[in-house]
Amino acid sequence: MSVINDEITIDNYNFRTKLRNGTPITIRPIKPEDKVCLMTGFERLSMNSRQCRFLSPVGQLSDYQINYLTEIDYTNHFALCASDVSQGYDIGAGIARYIRCDDEPETAEFAVAVIDAYQNQGLGKILLDLIIHIAQQNGINRFVGYVSIENIAMQKFLENYQANSQKEDDFIIRYELDILDQN
Ligand SMILES: CC(C)(COP(=O)(O)OP(=O)(O)OC[C@H]1O[C@@H](n2cnc3c(N)ncnc32)[C@H](O)[C@@H]1OP(=O)(O)O)[C@@H](O)C(=O)NCCC(=O)NCCS
Repeated sequence: MSVINDEITIDNYNFRTKLRNGTPITIRPIKPEDKVCLMTGFERLSMNSRQCRFLSPVGQLSDYQINYLTEIDYTNHFALCASDVSQGYDIGAGIARYIRCDDEPETAEFAVAVIDAYQNQGLGKILLDLIIHIAQQNGINRFVGYVSIENIAMQKFLENYQANSQKEDDFIIRYELDILDQN
């Protein structure tokens, strides 16, 4: 078993950690069997968090979206899901994902979403750090992400990664992270 830092261990991309408030968390790659869990987690995201994640007011995920988000190839498209295991079973807490760009194979678009009840406990940072580590191993050296101009939490979050930002239009900021620098 290898170790990413003092708190997180890796065993074939399965991670265990604790949030700042002590909640035990497991993190692992998403699987096709996670469709119901993804839907349930999505329903527990506030409308504001959904808007921030999908950049539009998504009421529910379509079957197409659920398939797309759970049936992945783990190279060009990777997603990690985090679960609260404090109750003895998995309760969805957050997801980080990257999708390699077709026209730029060393670049991937990334997204992170932490369910509101688990925000501000360090989970978003753990998920992004882990997915960066996995992306590096899969030959990706740059992440791009699109963030609503109103999403101050994500903008502050990305300040910690020395991300370059540029206004995409009146509503969206495009961020670029050189992930080879993030170790
Ligand atoms: C943005 C988001 C991913 C952050 O996840 P999180 O688990 O709450 O963030 P963390 O606790 O790991 O915070 C890491 C750092 O980000 C910054 N940060 C996070 N939330 C913040 C907030 N509400 N206000 C200011 N800074 C914030 C802080 O610098 C924080 O460091 P600190 O804890 O030492 O102060 C989460 O709020 C979220 O899922 N929002 C809805 C979906 C979304 O916006 N996704 C991004 C679209 S790609």
